[in-house]
Formats: sequence, C-alpha cells, structure tokens
Amino acid sequence: MIKIAVYSLKGGVGKTITAANLGQLYATHRTKRLPGTKRGSLRRVLLVDRDPQGNLSQYFNRYSDGPLEDHPIGTDWAWLDILPGNLSLAAQEDAALDVDRYADQYDLCLIDCQADLGKLTAGAIRCADYLIIPIRLDAFSTNGLSNLMQQLENLQEAAIDARVLGVLVTHDEKTPYSDAIKKLLRERLPLFDTTISRSKWVSESTIEHKPLAEIAGPDKKHPLRPMTTRPAWQYRKVFNEMADRLSNLDKGGKQ
Ligand SMILES: Nc1ncnc2c1ncn2[C@@H]1O[C@H](COP(=O)(O)OP(=O)(O)OP(=O)(O)O)[C@@H](O)[C@H]1O
Ligand SMILES: [Mg+2]
Repeated sequence: MIKIAVYSLKGGVGKTITAANLGQLYATHRTKRLPGTKRGSLRRVLLVDRDPQGNLSQYFNRYSDGPLEDHPIGTDWAWLDILPGNLSLAAQEDAALDVDRYADQYDLCLIDCQADLGKLTAGAIRCADYLIIPIRLDAFSTNGLSNLMQQLENLQEAAIDARVLGVLVTHDEKTPYSDAIKKLLRERLPLFDTTISRSKWVSESTIEHKPLAEIAGPDKKHPLRPMTTRPAWQYRKVFNEMADRLSNLDKGGKQ
C-alpha cells in the first residue's frame, strides 16, 4: 500500500478536493496503475480524513459527530473506503496515524491533512511515504513575486522527511504573470506538468458532494455523461503523472 498525504500549510488550496478525486478516480476509472499492482487486479483505495473539519468525510456523505470509527467504512463506490474525521480528532491524545494494519486491504492510501502543522498533520506526514502539495497560483499573483521565495522555503521546511512526490497548481488561470510564475516554480519544485484550472465545476462538486468524475459537464448533448468536465480530466492526468513518478521511484529502488 502506497501512502500519500495531501498537505499544505495554506487553507483552501484544494487539498480535500485533490485527495478525494485522485482516490475516487483510481477506484472507479481507467488510469495508469500503481507500481506493485497487477494488471486486472482490483484498485483498492483508502481515504483518511485527518482534518477535524471533516470536509473529506462530508464530501463522501460519511460525516457524523461523536466518537470516530477506528476502522474504514464504505463509500458509494466499491473499493473506495474512508476513515472519517470530525472534531473529536482534535481531542485525541495520540495523534499518531497508523494505517499499516490495513496494508493488505488497500493499494493506495490518501490522507487529507488540516491546514496547519499541528500534531495531527505531523502524524499524517510521518505516516506517509510521499506528499502531494497543492498550491494556488493566484496566491502568488496577488502577492506578487516578492514572497515567492519565502513560500518555497516554507514548503521545503514543511516537507520534513516525507518525499514530495509532486506540487500541484490548483485554481490555475491565465494571468499576465501565470506563465512566469509557473516557470519559476518549475525550476525549484517538482511541479506536475498538469495543473487544475480554476473551474466552477470544482466548487459545484464540493457543494453537491459529488466527485468530479460524476458531475455532469458542459456537454449539452450528454448532460449526464461522466467525466465531461475539464477538472475531472485534469485530475486523471495528474493521477497518471503520479503513477509514472511512483513507477520510476520503484524502478530506482525505492527507500
Ligand atoms: N480548481 C478549482 N477551481 C475552483 N474552485 C476550487 C478549485 N479547487 C478548489 N476549489 C474550491 O476551493 C475551496 C477549497 O477547496 P478544498 O476544500 O479542497 O481546499 P483545502 O485545501 O482542503 O481547504 P482547507 O484548508 O480548509 O482544508 C472549495 O470550495 C473548492 O470547491
Ligand atoms: Mg480540506
């Protein structure tokens, strides 16, 4: 089981939507396979909500108050399970995360982190083999390039010892600076080639609690055809890039 935490110190960058959709796409759609899995075998995904806000659990309609289950529960999709989160996470004495006991049951574990470096996030990062770090391009645009370096340093510090598998630009849109900023970022960080456009379908997906692959896109003739939205295809491309990177690491004798 490959364990990946979706992490950023910044709020609202798309951590939850990224963890949710990379996981749901792998479990339900055709993507490149992860290393170590056989052709034709099941694609079993465990999502872990480590944010007391419980947004990931809400997205899959698996949120509830009160004591948390300590075993994964099913979602609306076979082979996609979730360990839900809620406020009681914040009160847990022991913030260490141990998902290795599920290693035989899943191929991929995606952990959604909270936007701070508290105990829960530290526990999640320690548990993960890799990190995916979403960043919002518009944050750089509004602040200009001046604090770009500071933000890069923060990213590097925060990476601790988990490997950064990739940095994902979200809320991408064409501005006078966007290409220059992406170029600068690409020189310093393992940016995914694919970026996620700013799209109303992403907010709609959040509001409707429907993964991007399942919401109807702008295709008027086939309003219910899945995978018609641009961000759904972009997330699938990101997944494939991620699988390629993992396969290359695997070949290079991972850890
Ligand atoms: N590419 C995008 N285009 C438009 N809206 C987006 C995009 N990505 C994320 N959003 C919206 O931004 C908001 C924040 O996204 P999300 O909850 O995934 O971020 P987060 O990093 O998990 O936030 P938090 O730090 O609060 O956990 C949501 O309303 C989501 O719909
Ligand atoms: Mg979130």
